[in-house]
Amino acid sequence: MEPAADAHDPRTFTMDGRDVPFEAGQTVLRAALAAGRYVPHLCYHPEFDPHGSCKLCTVKLNGRTVASCTTLARAGDEVESDTPELQELRRNLVQFLFVEGNHFCPSCERSGSCTLQAVAYDLGVMAEHFSPFFPDRPIDASHPDVLLDFNRCILCELCVRASAEVDGKHVFALSGRGAQKHLIVNAESGRLADTRLAVEDKAMDVCPVGVILRKRRGFLVPIGERKYDQRSIREIATANAGSSARPPAAREP
Ligand code: SF4
Ligand code: FES
Repeated sequence: MEPAADAHDPRTFTMDGRDVPFEAGQTVLRAALAAGRYVPHLCYHPEFDPHGSCKLCTVKLNGRTVASCTTLARAGDEVESDTPELQELRRNLVQFLFVEGNHFCPSCERSGSCTLQAVAYDLGVMAEHFSPFFPDRPIDASHPDVLLDFNRCILCELCVRASAEVDGKHVFALSGRGAQKHLIVNAESGRLADTRLAVEDKAMDVCPVGVILRKRRGFLVPIGERKYDQRSIREIATANAGSSARPPAAREP
């Protein structure tokens, strides 16, 4: 059990009226998760610098709207997170992600271990809200061990960062701007088979949705026994959230 924060501890901010202790250099999101306070998020990953693209972790800090994953915690700040207004904003963002791609959840190999799906359930999103775009996106089955289903990409860039920063291979990249932004494979042919991607790579394990899939592993873990079937996303995200590392890209509010 976390020790109660001292009311006079300068390293404390409040979230929804409750004290959250933090360490110097911690972001609001990191401190909140470490204190067992879940804030929905998608593009944040504890092993990478915060990216600030999905905006799901949006909170109000002293009345101002900020991304909690890129904002440094400061003593005395008042943060609102679990409010009807912010939850509605997050629901809209998630609903938009679902219609912007083709997710086909019932037949997706990541169903039950997909972060987007788990966040949607947490927010009470049970059905499509906006009209689907039905974009025309390819599947790349050229690699002997990996299937790439572009239909579900939410452009979080985690695979891009993992491949570049951890694997040192730069297999993935984002191309285009605005609505045209999309994931590409860094090979002259554009085919995954012509990259150095290997199943042991970090890039294989960071996708929050069902884009990067191992071949011959489909449904080995039955539906009902998967990650978010066992424990809620709140429980998983706050367990072992850690507290120390300062993400270099974090900003002062
Ligand atoms: S493939 Fe997955 S990890 Fe890569 S950008 Fe798309 S959603 Fe993110
Ligand atoms: S988790 Fe903060 S913007 Fe995506």
